[in-house]
Amino acid sequence: MFSMAPQEPPGVPEDTLPENLPGEAPLGLLRIENVDPAELVQLGRMLFFDPVLSRDRTIACASCHRPESGFADNKALSFGVGGKQTLRNAPSLFNRAYGRSFMWDGRSKTLEEQVLLPIENKLEMDLPLDQAVERLRSEERYAKLFEANFNRLADRQGLALALASFVRRIFSADSPVDQFRAGDRQALSPAARSGLWLYESRGGCWRCHTGANFSDEKFHNTGVGVRDGVPEEGRFQVTLKEEERGAFKTPTLRGVATTAPYMHDGSLRTLEEVVEFYRAGGNTNENLDRSIAPIQMSDGDALNLVAFLRALSE
Ligand code: HEC
Ligand code: HEC
Repeated sequence: MFSMAPQEPPGVPEDTLPENLPGEAPLGLLRIENVDPAELVQLGRMLFFDPVLSRDRTIACASCHRPESGFADNKALSFGVGGKQTLRNAPSLFNRAYGRSFMWDGRSKTLEEQVLLPIENKLEMDLPLDQAVERLRSEERYAKLFEANFNRLADRQGLALALASFVRRIFSADSPVDQFRAGDRQALSPAARSGLWLYESRGGCWRCHTGANFSDEKFHNTGVGVRDGVPEEGRFQVTLKEEERGAFKTPTLRGVATTAPYMHDGSLRTLEEVVEFYRAGGNTNENLDRSIAPIQMSDGDALNLVAFLRALSE
């Protein structure tokens, strides 16, 4: 028997994170210059898991950015208040402290600016910021924490600072790939090692997924979302440059095994599908990035590449 799945609200996951989120990642690969005070991070963390910031008190940031799913969720598009669907796939929040712009099209310049947007977004939490601030002022535990951190009543600025401080502490840096690069030859399986080699050679992945965070933080058109040869707007919406039509921000690959489905529209379900997509050279359109072209790869190579991607997550 087939029946349409009801549009269940995602629910709010428990806060099961370790008590002390790292202020500095292991192995010194990634460093934060200005570490926010622990009390501020704690306030941000409470807010992140609290549905109080949504109109009907059913959705928290953590509903779509679930810790057990790499701070993404496992839906192509996410559900906000009243079962409304977001326009894009929820990205992982790992290592956003190193981000240079936020959102798939980079329309937010800072995390402080970004973290207030989902609260007011009609498809996500749908709560006017004035009301959000009112709610926080009327809850004693928040009133106290805002007072302690800022010496004043809850306001938008404090809310933004607290949420951004928490998001900056969401780290991923000690994967088997890092251990391998630090000299532990046993950290990667032979398959993952071959995958790493492919990634860094003719696979060409390193051209965009580069550096400690596996992202150049730039915008590229890989052809995701192209329909009949026509790309979506993507970065064009921000810069109004024709050549950036269909370009989206290179996502980090950290934690990638836990964040399926993939791409800004959630259109690829598995890492195997992602590798197939690149093997075939993306989707043709007039703005396709010059680094995207069919890759000569055996089936075994494709499996190795997937093994490497998985090793960025454990
Ligand atoms: C209903 C689901 C939903 C909720 C609730 C939600 N987000 Fe998101 N989040 C998304 C989606 C979808 C995107 C990508 C939107 C885009 O690029 O247009 C996103 C993007 C982000 C980004 C940008 C990441 C990057 O790499 O560019 C950050 C940071 C973020 N969200 C933090 C938060 C915080 C903090 C909250 C709570 C105040 C929150 N989100 C609530 C779905 C959600
Ligand atoms: C020209 C730059 C570029 C190259 C080269 C490139 N990527 Fe990407 N990658 C991107 C961009 C941009 C996206 C997001 C595309 C979108 O959603 O529109 C992405 C998305 C991904 C994702 C999905 C991540 C997520 O969270 O949804 C994976 C996995 C990935 N790439 C792996 C690879 C692998 C493996 C290679 C090499 C075979 C590769 N990429 C080559 C730019 C690139």
